[in-house]
Amino acid sequence: MTFQDRELLDSSGSHIDLTQLGMGSRIGLVPECRLRTITTIDDPAREMFAEVYARAFSEAPYCEAYTSEWIVEHVWEPHLPHCIVVAEDNNKVIALGCAHPLLESRISPSAVDYILGLKDLQFDPRKTIYMSELAVDKDFRGMGLGTKMVSSRINWALENGYEHYTLRTAAEGSHSLNLYKRIGAQELPGSHSVHSVEGGDLETGSKSRLYLWGRLADLPRTNN
Ligand SMILES: CC(C)(COP(=O)(O)OP(=O)(O)OC[C@H]1O[C@@H](n2cnc3c(N)ncnc32)[C@H](O)[C@@H]1OP(=O)(O)O)[C@@H](O)C(=O)NCCC(=O)NCCS
Repeated sequence: MTFQDRELLDSSGSHIDLTQLGMGSRIGLVPECRLRTITTIDDPAREMFAEVYARAFSEAPYCEAYTSEWIVEHVWEPHLPHCIVVAEDNNKVIALGCAHPLLESRISPSAVDYILGLKDLQFDPRKTIYMSELAVDKDFRGMGLGTKMVSSRINWALENGYEHYTLRTAAEGSHSLNLYKRIGAQELPGSHSVHSVEGGDLETGSKSRLYLWGRLADLPRTNN
């Protein structure tokens, strides 16, 4: 059974549920929601995906001004053959996550260039995914849903035979750095100066990015 053949349930198979990891008193707070992988271009979640994305990245530190059309063309469509997961509450999208093989460089060209340009990488880029997008709607934050969306992408990577993950975040004011450090991600050397978002034509308020990576084998498995 592949990830895309079924809905993603934390409790199915020997999968990873990072919401058990270092969450302290917040364990068990993750909002009730349905996690679903997107496989068709005209899935009914498309507009809501774009709305959640645009709202989340209009905030500092990114301050990016997206249109729905841009998001569909540059985020939704190119990720479709790879990994798009949405969390839905009563059929309303409340969170999203995307990932692609690191070497699928057309989606995140500047990030992939940066990573591949580093010396002495401790992972094989052919066996590595890039976790390209993560957003949780404001009302649902701080309860582990972001971590759950990371788990979804990690499970997609495991099911597709990958061994490592990479990602980037804002060097200043990141909302997700703690989350990724909590699951054991390590920083790659240096920082990357960027002026526009991937896709090239929109400005970003976050001009410096940090990159992180980790081994899937280091993450704790659930046994059920
Ligand atoms: C990043 C994001 C997805 C986290 O979602 P979430 O559901 O709150 O995530 P969790 O509850 O699993 O974890 C929250 C973690 O984020 C951290 N965090 C949340 N808001 C933060 C903020 N404004 N500044 C710094 N850290 C913040 C918390 O400290 C917490 O880390 P901790 O558990 O180690 O203390 C959400 O804040 C978001 O969508 N932000 C806007 C878009 C964005 O920045 N996306 C990430 C791009 S790399």
